[in-house]
Amino acid sequence: MRALKISSTFKTQHSLERGSNVALLSRREFLSGTVAVLGATGLRHPIWALANASVAGGALPSQLLLGVDYYPDQTPENLWEEDSRMMAEAGFTNARIAEFAWALMEPSEGKFDFAWLRRAVETLHKSNIAVILGTPSAAPPPWLTAKYPEIVEVNAQGARLYPGGRRFTCPTNKTYRRLSLAVASEMARAFADAPGVVGWQIDNELTLSSSPRCYCDFCRAGFQEWVRAKYGSLEHVNRSWGTVFWSQTYTDFGQIPVPLPSGGDPNPGLALDYDRYQSYANSSYLEEQLGVLRKVCPRHFVTTNNVGLPLDIIDLRSLYEKLDFVAFDNYPGFFEMLLHEQNSGPVSPDVISSTAALGHDFGRSLKGGKPFMVMEEQSGKAGQRSFSPQPEKGQLRLWTYQAIAHGAMGVNYFRWDTATFGAEEYWHGVLNHDRSKSPGYEEIKQTIKELKALGPEVLNSSYAAETALVFDYDCDWALQIQPGHHELSYVAQITSWYGAAAASHTGIDVILPGVDLTAYKIVLAPVVYVLSETQAAKIRSFVQNGGMFVSNFRLGVKNENSQIVRTPLPGLLRDVMGVTVEDYAPIYSRNPGVKFSGALAGPDGECGIWADILQPSGAEVLGTYASGAHAGKAAITINSFGQGKSVYIGADLERASLDRVLRSLAASAGVRQALEVPSGVEMTVRQSGDKHWIFLLNHTATSKTVSIPRACTDLLTGQWRAGTVDLSAYGVRVLVAS
Ligand code: GAL
Repeated sequence: MRALKISSTFKTQHSLERGSNVALLSRREFLSGTVAVLGATGLRHPIWALANASVAGGALPSQLLLGVDYYPDQTPENLWEEDSRMMAEAGFTNARIAEFAWALMEPSEGKFDFAWLRRAVETLHKSNIAVILGTPSAAPPPWLTAKYPEIVEVNAQGARLYPGGRRFTCPTNKTYRRLSLAVASEMARAFADAPGVVGWQIDNELTLSSSPRCYCDFCRAGFQEWVRAKYGSLEHVNRSWGTVFWSQTYTDFGQIPVPLPSGGDPNPGLALDYDRYQSYANSSYLEEQLGVLRKVCPRHFVTTNNVGLPLDIIDLRSLYEKLDFVAFDNYPGFFEMLLHEQNSGPVSPDVISSTAALGHDFGRSLKGGKPFMVMEEQSGKAGQRSFSPQPEKGQLRLWTYQAIAHGAMGVNYFRWDTATFGAEEYWHGVLNHDRSKSPGYEEIKQTIKELKALGPEVLNSSYAAETALVFDYDCDWALQIQPGHHELSYVAQITSWYGAAAASHTGIDVILPGVDLTAYKIVLAPVVYVLSETQAAKIRSFVQNGGMFVSNFRLGVKNENSQIVRTPLPGLLRDVMGVTVEDYAPIYSRNPGVKFSGALAGPDGECGIWADILQPSGAEVLGTYASGAHAGKAAITINSFGQGKSVYIGADLERASLDRVLRSLAASAGVRQALEVPSGVEMTVRQSGDKHWIFLLNHTATSKTVSIPRACTDLLTGQWRAGTVDLSAYGVRVLVAS
């Protein structure tokens, strides 16, 4: 976590079917198997089974996975029983364990020892704590790196990292893959039938490192093979990348370099393909372990934990495609601390709540709305060299409910006890260093109790979204390679647009290109820098059939090879948008004002770091540049195309204007919010048939009042409410209309 780099992201804006090897097992068998395993641990009808199958016999799952991340490998064995008992007393249902314990599992090459881990699993199981086992490949032991130093990755500057931390490995290296697979396979065989084990987490946060991509010779060879498979011929490669530029024409696949420092910027097409290759290398690395787990442990679920947005090195749709459900880690307080450090000022609660919500909506949308799990949720002060304060009273509960409100089926708190040694001594858990109960213990216990009582109906309801926000790795990576302006960051734009859209308190799916758009009323897609013909066709037909498409500057600039299109911008979408981009301008000083008109008439706005100057060809102007070289020229337009509308926001609007504009557009697209809520309060709706559950989440330190037009029952207190409901500081309510 320490290496998390968010400065460029936020500085300016503050802003999965199973593998073929288990196809032999029917869904029903899979499910009844898992139910049997969970039954044995005291859990019934696992809600996570929803992630891969509908529940057999129509029974509704009645419980969430509510657990802790636990390190028996770091804890004297005489404390395991007490730990397990205390976990059960606190209400936890599972523990994720062992994901960094390679040195204990394989003290020397090929000599495996799982006896200690078996005892740990048995101890937990005796207390009805189910176990999620982590494969340990994120932390190779010293004997391994001493014998095979070549498994250590090379960073973007060409320097080899050193062992001694974690996640310093090359995803392509065959020795690292062989040894990771060996320990995972032995582990799988040792625990396939172990009572209490319910699932697996492969590795841990692939790529979360000070150097998320590897540039070593193995990756170079792997990249050359990947390029050969993708393009077939060198002629195709040379044409797609435009290698005639700077005399880079390749006459042998073995000549293709990786983008290491070379006296000048790399070819943008090659650089984008390298990012795609690194994403593929990590996914295919994970799939090797997945293959073995599917074969040896067909009754267990398999997932992995990632950091979620705003980190962006692996295409998570591919990563989770063959896994049972999405899982990620969520540390809002720690995140706030990082933002605070990097912006040197206070961070608004909205930024923190909407960034966490963005992660949840992305996690849910990655597998088409299936429930996800928060594998690590902050449970106290969090950090390493410096750490965030104890979350305010109510925040731990609030963050847990926020995950459930966005569709989570489980939350595990990181971590059970607080380490007294190692790099994470200050990452506080549910128990303090001296094993006393942490300041957050009672709140977590109370939250678990409440959540267990929530009932199967609400937990099986779905999160409904009429708005889609498109996140595209190609745009993100291509823009990092050539931002056009040093402050232009794709993830910052996504975060800011998500924040603006979330201010409307209506459901948002955060989707990747290719997802069917027909279910949405409005599709938001900022900075579509790379646009494929397929995605352009999807957008065209979405608008033609009555949808509203909203984009902004840099739309359709590049094709998938990262070559700039040879047609006037916005390229493939010129007719849909009804405009031509007359000029485009990075802005370093003298930000132009923006004057709104027509349906967007309101207070003047300001253009930040980018301005596309629009020439309408049928579109209506809704905003003009008010000052500077382009004063009077169109900055925002709306076009009728088929039965729908498309909006081009050429100016990089500041947040207040962006909020107002997106809110007004969503309303005109027919997106309605269920209730008006005061600022700082987040509202999400989950529904099942005609029944709606409204989650109200107060992210502020002051109490709030929400008016409710219809009488409701407060699910958490059982009380009937009419007129208004109060929310205490960091308070939560779940309302169901009576
Ligand atoms: C996560 C990671 C955990 C632990 C935690 C606190 O990113 O998965 O292993 O390091 O952060 O730093």
